[in-house]
Amino acid sequence: MQLTIKQLQIIEAIVQTGNYSLAAERLHMTQPAVSMQIKQLEHKIELSLFERQGKKISLSNAGEIIYQHSQQVLANYDVLIEIINEAKDLHTGRIKVAAATTANHLITQMIANFSSINKDIKVSLKITNRERLVQQLQNFEPDIVLMGEPPPKLDLISEPLIANPLVVIANPEHPLAQKSKIPLKTIAKHEFIVREEGSGTRAAIETFFQNKGTELKSTLEMGSNEAIKHAVSAGLGLGIVSLHSLKLELESNKLVILDVNGLPIQRYWHIVKRKGKRLLPAVKQFQDFMIKESSAYEESYHQFL
Ligand code: PGA
Repeated sequence: MQLTIKQLQIIEAIVQTGNYSLAAERLHMTQPAVSMQIKQLEHKIELSLFERQGKKISLSNAGEIIYQHSQQVLANYDVLIEIINEAKDLHTGRIKVAAATTANHLITQMIANFSSINKDIKVSLKITNRERLVQQLQNFEPDIVLMGEPPPKLDLISEPLIANPLVVIANPEHPLAQKSKIPLKTIAKHEFIVREEGSGTRAAIETFFQNKGTELKSTLEMGSNEAIKHAVSAGLGLGIVSLHSLKLELESNKLVILDVNGLPIQRYWHIVKRKGKRLLPAVKQFQDFMIKESSAYEESYHQFL
């Protein structure tokens, strides 16, 4: 007896849509072709799969058993297709990278350098905040993630890459700009522009100030480091951002780092992967590249601290 995947897909589509014409539409077939396939199959297995009461179609007892088992076959078939696609990707290589908003500069520089010497490997990048990165990891979406502290509750493989210092920034004309060893208490009296809820940077800043027994005053909340830098440079308040998001502004003297006692807040960038996700060799190649390049990147920021 010969059964085809197409026939199993037709049974599935009829069960899920509840009728032949919707099943035909879903599978890009005509309705008579769907009926014909079912008729031929029922004839071949000498069992009827569906019972018809007027317009209503339901699985027969035998159909129910066949449907349950065919679901397993179709799930394995999907895995097989995935494996074939991955094997094709081995040729060219494809890497799905995701990174924290704050790691934008670091990750784009890494990808640009990597791609210039690995032209056959396609890299896609999604930039978003920590909260959404955790969701993506939960859904096994990215191959590799660059983020702050890895979330404790997920089954992950992670390793620290480089330090990510968070510094206080101000407009160069700000009264504190020329001061040194500014006490934390003094800083806490000023208005801060902070990142949105869900940002890893924001969570780290809040924890830091709580541990010091104080709290930041913040009236403005912004969804990106870029927006915070613009607002600080326009004199709307102070900000705390990653040193790695500041190169251009520091070089052009649009912003300055304040010398505050106990700062920078020391965070680390981590390379994070979801345990159990099948990864192509290109992912390991990219990870090794990041590790190799990271110390030069870190050193390029030492001059600013
Ligand atoms: P953020 O992430 O861009 O969400 O602030 C930084 C981090 O995870 O430390």
